[in-house]
Amino acid sequence: MNINSIRSTFAKYFGASGSVYTSPGRINLIGEHTDYNGGFVFPGAIDKAMTAEIKPNGTDTVRAYALDLETDNYAAFGLKEEDIPKQQWARYIFGVCREIMKRGGKIGGFDTVFSGDVPLGAGMSSSAALESTFAFGLNDLFELEINKFELAKIGQATEHNYCGVKCGIMDQFASIFGKAGSLILLDCRSLEYQYFPFNPVGYKLVLLNTNVKHALADGEYNKRRASCERAAAAIRKQHPEVEFLRDATIQMLEAVKNDISPEDYLRAGYVIEEVQRVMDVCQALEQGDYETVGERMYGTHHGMSKLYEVSCEELDFLNDIARKCGVTGSRVMGGGFGGCTINLVKEEKYNDFIKEAFQSFKSKFGHEPLLYDVVISDGARKL
Ligand code: GLA
Repeated sequence: MNINSIRSTFAKYFGASGSVYTSPGRINLIGEHTDYNGGFVFPGAIDKAMTAEIKPNGTDTVRAYALDLETDNYAAFGLKEEDIPKQQWARYIFGVCREIMKRGGKIGGFDTVFSGDVPLGAGMSSSAALESTFAFGLNDLFELEINKFELAKIGQATEHNYCGVKCGIMDQFASIFGKAGSLILLDCRSLEYQYFPFNPVGYKLVLLNTNVKHALADGEYNKRRASCERAAAAIRKQHPEVEFLRDATIQMLEAVKNDISPEDYLRAGYVIEEVQRVMDVCQALEQGDYETVGERMYGTHHGMSKLYEVSCEELDFLNDIARKCGVTGSRVMGGGFGGCTINLVKEEKYNDFIKEAFQSFKSKFGHEPLLYDVVISDGARKL
């Protein structure tokens, strides 16, 4: 991240210096589209983050400068509901302010410059990183004493109410609660969590970015969520204890097969299996059984591709290559519709896999994928 540029740009535009906050993107080992179904996820924060210098300016106006954008990179907006800025990027900041205020937090205007190295649209949660940076930073600067759970919920509510994505809590939680060297096993219903030291000796965790940009706001993500809610509601008629699909079994789903659409049936089947896969991975990790971890990752990919239908040709292609190269586990990561695969690969197979993936991807799609080695890092903090 580029702190010197943030600092010099802030001084140039606002003639002063503020406090600097940073919040990371995330990976997720397994547990995809389970968060809004009340299930478990297994994310970790990474060494790529959004970073902002922020200083209260004593007015009612926020003045924000997005350092990484070449055009339309400045926004000034008030803090009332009707002041919503037109730029999408500024809505993340505006939404965080509004959600803080709805919870009784007293904030005023501020100046900010921000920049980041979380690739956009790659399934690594750049938007959650941005929300968490501002939620964390404003909480500190205005001495609001909002707890970390609520900070994560402020980011999530920003997505729901100002960005049109009915996301779960995983991304914001990982960005706020991340811990170097540990994954987080999170129960998305109770928000109970456990740090899980993750150091797979002899393996590497690597992301390959197809560079197909996903946009969850175009409605497909919300459609998946609606399918799950319909299926859960159908099951609940027979089993009142089923609050979310997390509580359902495949037998319960079979029993309502004729009451729901074939599409909702497929979506729900994926989620019920995925909840189980997270449990399997948890157990396997405790025994150091990375072969099982990897097999479940392939299982997730298959489900996301064929049942949940959130993969794409490029992701499926990388997944096939991983299998052919003997990679232990591989799957699409995050919401899907593009972005990255996450790969658990034995060190001795790493070089051959990367070489093969780059060459064959390029000859099929005309460009190479991008590679990121994963470093599991700390969550939101002041620099
Ligand atoms: C996106 C959402 C998360 C989660 C994942 C899929 O990243 O923001 O809440 O649903 O997709 O697991």
